[in-house]
Amino acid sequence: MSLNTGAQYPEFRPRRLRQSAALRRLVCETHLHASQLVLPLFVRRGQKLRHPIGAMPGVYQLSPDELVREASRAFAAGVPAVLLFGIPDRKDALASGAYAKNGIVQQAVRRLKQELPELLIITDVCLCEYMTHGHCGLVHPSAPGAKILNDPTLKLLARAAASHAEAGADIVAPSDMMDGRVRAIRAELDRTGFSETPILSYAAKFASAFYGPFREAAESAPQFGDRRSYQMDAANANEALREVALDIAEGADMVMVKPALAYLDILHRVKMEFGYPTAAYAVSGEFSMVKAAAAKGWIDERAVTLESLLAMRRAGADILITYAATDVAKWLTE
Ligand code: PBG
Repeated sequence: MSLNTGAQYPEFRPRRLRQSAALRRLVCETHLHASQLVLPLFVRRGQKLRHPIGAMPGVYQLSPDELVREASRAFAAGVPAVLLFGIPDRKDALASGAYAKNGIVQQAVRRLKQELPELLIITDVCLCEYMTHGHCGLVHPSAPGAKILNDPTLKLLARAAASHAEAGADIVAPSDMMDGRVRAIRAELDRTGFSETPILSYAAKFASAFYGPFREAAESAPQFGDRRSYQMDAANANEALREVALDIAEGADMVMVKPALAYLDILHRVKMEFGYPTAAYAVSGEFSMVKAAAAKGWIDERAVTLESLLAMRRAGADILITYAATDVAKWLTE
């Protein structure tokens, strides 16, 4: 695209197009719409349970009945999709709750599908919430702490994804960052009769301090070490493109960049390079910062939230995953 700066016209005046709201709307290049939003939700066993997350005001661990309530509110406001995370009763060294036929996410999906058949259900596919040690993969038995095992983990992830599809999930979203997991999940979905279930891959997921509040919400903080041997180094952009290329080659239908606001360059390059449906995940820490500053009266929560999401759209995001989805949908339609 060649940019005519107007430098050749002595009287070129950009402000001509900013004179009125109608004129500004006419030349607006980027639009936010409720149909682009995805609301992440946390579910755990119980009834009438709304357990607040300290660093995420307005976000709760919900029992299935309350989950349906929260999802209906979002759907009524215009949010088309939710992203589900489960907190199991018990964790173990094989993350068996992640792929149990009657696991918490599987139960929640069935219930949501029954009560809100039009709502799109995306399930996060990972093991960390279900592992005693909180890592996203199996840990080497004789050298715990030293190594997260890649290939043995793939089978468990594939089982988890297929169990979500079987329960009725519309889209599965692997967030573990093991190599080859999209291929393994695609093969298992195809084998078990779910060849029409799309994969939204957390393709470029960085090892980020912005996930702090989430780990309280999902009770998934690693008990030793960190996630740097599987999540990406914040310094690397070319590597992010290679990660995305691999996931697409393995069968991802949609790709994600995560976190969002500090990684807009990655988002832009991913969209430019591949042109795939691209999601930006405005993660827990991004949400907490806005809430905390707004609570002090230091920023305008609504304006800052909308501006941030607009920036993600401008950078190339088609899909916006945000804990503020329900509020945003309301703001956009009032
Ligand atoms: C699970 C997972 C995490 C997030 C989404 N899926 C945490 C992590 O990788 O530690 C983070 C979401 C957020 O911070 O909002 N692997």
